[in-house]
Amino acid sequence: TTVEWEAESYDMGGHDTYMHKEISEQSDAVDRVLRGRIDDRFSTVHLGGLNLDAREARGIRRVKILGCGTSYHAGMIGAQLIEELARIPADAEPASEFRYRNPVVDPDTLYVAVSQSGETYDVLAAVQELKRKGARVLGVVNVVGSAIAREADGGMYVHAGPEVCVVSTKCFTNTVVAFALLALHLGRIRDLSVSDGKRLIEGLRKLPAQIAEILEGEDDIKKLAEEYAGAQSMMFIGRVRGYPVALEASLKLKEISYIHAEAYPASELKHGPLALIEPALPTVAIVPDDELLEKNRAALEEIKARSGRILAVAHREQEKADHTIVVPKNETELDPILMGIPLQLFAYHTALAMGRDIDKPRNLAKSVTVE
Ligand code: AGP
Repeated sequence: TTVEWEAESYDMGGHDTYMHKEISEQSDAVDRVLRGRIDDRFSTVHLGGLNLDAREARGIRRVKILGCGTSYHAGMIGAQLIEELARIPADAEPASEFRYRNPVVDPDTLYVAVSQSGETYDVLAAVQELKRKGARVLGVVNVVGSAIAREADGGMYVHAGPEVCVVSTKCFTNTVVAFALLALHLGRIRDLSVSDGKRLIEGLRKLPAQIAEILEGEDDIKKLAEEYAGAQSMMFIGRVRGYPVALEASLKLKEISYIHAEAYPASELKHGPLALIEPALPTVAIVPDDELLEKNRAALEEIKARSGRILAVAHREQEKADHTIVVPKNETELDPILMGIPLQLFAYHTALAMGRDIDKPRNLAKSVTVE
């Protein structure tokens, strides 16, 4: 069984759906997760609830992030941020898989449980198993005082505010920002320089205004969504930082529109999925202006050569794409935070054009408190 959320108890604030309301709230939500945590004097961030002193933070050899669904995708970006900024090997794994494979639990590994609700059973059970084995577990959680928040040794709240729609949007964004803060914090205790700390803090501060800018483009995204709404199936591709964004965007689309969607690293196309490409299967490509830009462009060429339609999310117009949604550029490490937002609107307007029940998609519940 699953627990139903009492959607009626929260005001929709003039929006037609909670999903739309929650997408629209993201500038304020990100502002909240940053508030009171930035320390300009030392170009770092303070995270009081971690219960991890500098000496302990230096002793971490590995970071393992556990979550389900959207929280798992946010954790994948989190792992990349931690590895890139703090130079600690890090990866994310679905909590449900982790707890059934009898993993090696290592005292020098920092485990991080991610959950919007803080009640997802598979995540909670993984935390309990880890704690039983003596591991240190942090929580990155939205709901204050929830089971996972209480069970963890410490952690940080993501302060997205109440999320009512079954599909997660603003909490995804805030969770990724929370991971950026954690990565910056760990990085500055280890080898991240003052100037990089400063650069990233400036990038974080730009996010709320950049999110507002993306949301202003809603009418154009709506038109695109209406154009693609007839598709039976869609492919989502991205590389490295763009790959979890592709995974999350494809999950969003399938959850609320019921269009079949798959996400692949763009580099894997030639190892199989390219066989699917034809005019009836559009591809959504995440194409940031980073060190992989040319590689991503080559993937677009491969798709075009097979007459595939392409919608790119990029920092500038992509010639090979049929359409490009241009998003504002931030620091390269922080780009994935922004690139998923237009695709939340894309999924939303696709589902709307198809007449779907957006806040309550079939077969799903907000919080999965059983196995
Ligand atoms: C998100 O759109 C989904 N409905 C789902 O994947 C969700 O993220 C997952 O069940 C985990 O929930 P949690 O973050 O509350 O633990």
